[in-house]
Amino acid sequence: FRQVSLSDDCNGRTPRRRLIKVSVIGAGNVGMAIAQTILTQDLADEIVLVDAVADKVRGEMLDLQHAAAFLPRVRIVSGTGIELTGGSDLVIVTAGARQIPGETRLNLLQRNVALFRKIVPPAAEASPESILLIVSNPVDVLTYVAWKLSGFPASRVIGSGTNLDSSRFRFLLAEHLEVNAQDVQAYMVGEHGDSSVALFSSISVGGMPVLSHLQRNHRSAVTKKVFDGEALEGIRRAVVGSAYEVIQLKGYTSWAIGYSVANLAWSLLRDQRRIHPVSVLAKGLVLGVPPDRELFLSLPARLGRAGVLGVAAELVLTEEENKRLRQSADTLWGYCQALAL
Ligand code: NAI
Ligand code: LAC
Repeated sequence: FRQVSLSDDCNGRTPRRRLIKVSVIGAGNVGMAIAQTILTQDLADEIVLVDAVADKVRGEMLDLQHAAAFLPRVRIVSGTGIELTGGSDLVIVTAGARQIPGETRLNLLQRNVALFRKIVPPAAEASPESILLIVSNPVDVLTYVAWKLSGFPASRVIGSGTNLDSSRFRFLLAEHLEVNAQDVQAYMVGEHGDSSVALFSSISVGGMPVLSHLQRNHRSAVTKKVFDGEALEGIRRAVVGSAYEVIQLKGYTSWAIGYSVANLAWSLLRDQRRIHPVSVLAKGLVLGVPPDRELFLSLPARLGRAGVLGVAAELVLTEEENKRLRQSADTLWGYCQALAL
């Protein structure tokens, strides 16, 4: 058919908006789940897949390209060179060793720090205005490492943190209450790991903070059910144990982290100003932790195109929650300090 330009303004050229480029370094289970989810959410104009294994990453690229007839038009590029990521708006790092059954996330630290020393400086140099979104584990310490190695402002170095754990928390609470998880607001904060902290006191269902009902002795069926202490503690344990359970069953986790990181990418690149529990520089933000300690852990943060726009500093926590958050901070500080970066 003969193409007819309906507008003389652009002289036959398509008016250009700023194109969004997203790079994923590490095309494994997690990197590909993230890339695939971003692809289906029509967020990026270009997706770059980088991996150390050339055939694998080329195969992943071709496999995604073959879905083009069912997806928004996106340029998909792949290779082994970090330079392919140049000019990215968002660089997502999922490269690295993963846990085998029985391993903790912190057990991965030395191997993945060595990897980050090779990956982060060239990635930062190739995309000096980008946001670095770290997923590799132990994600809080590796986000600290990426901050130090990149030289970026802390606002543009973010760890996926407990955005995933909070989704698991909301799912289990929703199942417990027989409501939709999207109507449950609930946070896990601190380490994305064994010391993560469930903020029971700020659970809200349908916008109604449940604890205040309890304090008013308004023991509705929902309040009674939510605040059955044993059930809540069981849910907290199930959240902390989620990854171990899935890794034991299928060898790794991928789908939930894929949606979690795509959710973060949307808030960042579309400047949504949404609040997410993500791993941020928590210097001076945790009550009882010396204010000069540089460490990353998850707190509710407002995310937009410039990265972290603000962090909820005055969290209203119970004494128990604050104690657990301090313990989480102490754990992470110990690992960050030992790296002597
Ligand atoms: P995987 O083994 O499937 O993928 C890792 C990929 O990294 C491999 O394809 C490997 O070739 C690649 N790689 C290794 N060295 C590289 C380099 N120098 N440059 C580029 N690519 C390189 O592992 P999986 O399951 O994708 O997990 C990746 C990481 O994500 C692990 O550290 C895992 O613990 C973490 N993870 C974090 C989650 C979170 O909530 N923060 C959730 C799930 C996994
Ligand atoms: C998780 C681990 C792998 O899925 O970090 O939470």
